[in-house]
Amino acid sequence: MAQLIDGKKISAQIKDELKDEVTQMNARGITVTLAVILVGQDPASCVYVRNKKKACEYIGIRSISCEMPEETTQEELLEKIREFNQDDSVDGILVQLPLPAHIHEDTVIDAIDPSKDVDGFCPRSVGALCIGKPGFVSCTPAGIIQLLKRSGVTIEGKECVVVGRSNIVGKPMSLLLLRESGTVTICHSRTKNLKEICKRADILVCAIGKPRFFTEEYVKEGAVVIDVGIHRNEQNKLCGDVDFERVEPVASMITPVPGGVGPMTIAMLMSNCVESARQKAQNKE
Ligand code: GUN
Repeated sequence: MAQLIDGKKISAQIKDELKDEVTQMNARGITVTLAVILVGQDPASCVYVRNKKKACEYIGIRSISCEMPEETTQEELLEKIREFNQDDSVDGILVQLPLPAHIHEDTVIDAIDPSKDVDGFCPRSVGALCIGKPGFVSCTPAGIIQLLKRSGVTIEGKECVVVGRSNIVGKPMSLLLLRESGTVTICHSRTKNLKEICKRADILVCAIGKPRFFTEEYVKEGAVVIDVGIHRNEQNKLCGDVDFERVEPVASMITPVPGGVGPMTIAMLMSNCVESARQKAQNKE
């Protein structure tokens, strides 16, 4: 039987550590502020934004909420970002995605000052990760590294297979595992011999975006399996990219869905905000 990697517990630990740190920063007169921009009323985005604000409240981060109507023009949104870029009290800027179809996402992300890019999405942040320079790292993959480290999994020298090549998860995940000295293979939906390659993995990161795609046929005995997917099954219950019932007996460790990778994303966003404020305070010293 596999050991469960408890993302709820680990994310709560991280949030508690951050809460202590923010309390100490406050005592030194340093505040931490996150600006959250939501355009339109996408129901899932509204839930995510609400959860981000709740996490800020818990930790003691001030959150500025900017809710803009669906009809907002790209220029109006860019103007708002410029305003937050110039506002010295703002440490992090988050534009909730997806944006309405008439707004060009890349242009918007590119407008965020890299020193406030707490989502780690802007090209400068991704480039910094690629060449091993400091910068903010996309929250979901950064959270997965924390899950592995805090569960006692060594990455160095391990065969790591990442299935998925998105800019938000697959690509930064591969770069982070490489930074930790893993031997990394990146696969995707068009990879030939996907089963054979996955079966080599000591650490298998499943981010293909297909419900219960990964069965025991993809998993080596004793592998650590990280499930990034989140879907609703026929009974409207949450499930991941991994067929948990079939993989769990083979794996040594596995993340459940829900309660695995999901809660880590917000914890790492909070961590990036605190890091941004810490850097700003250091630069002023
Ligand atoms: N939409 C879904 N996930 C995310 C995320 O991590 N950040 C932002 N900005 N938007 C999202």
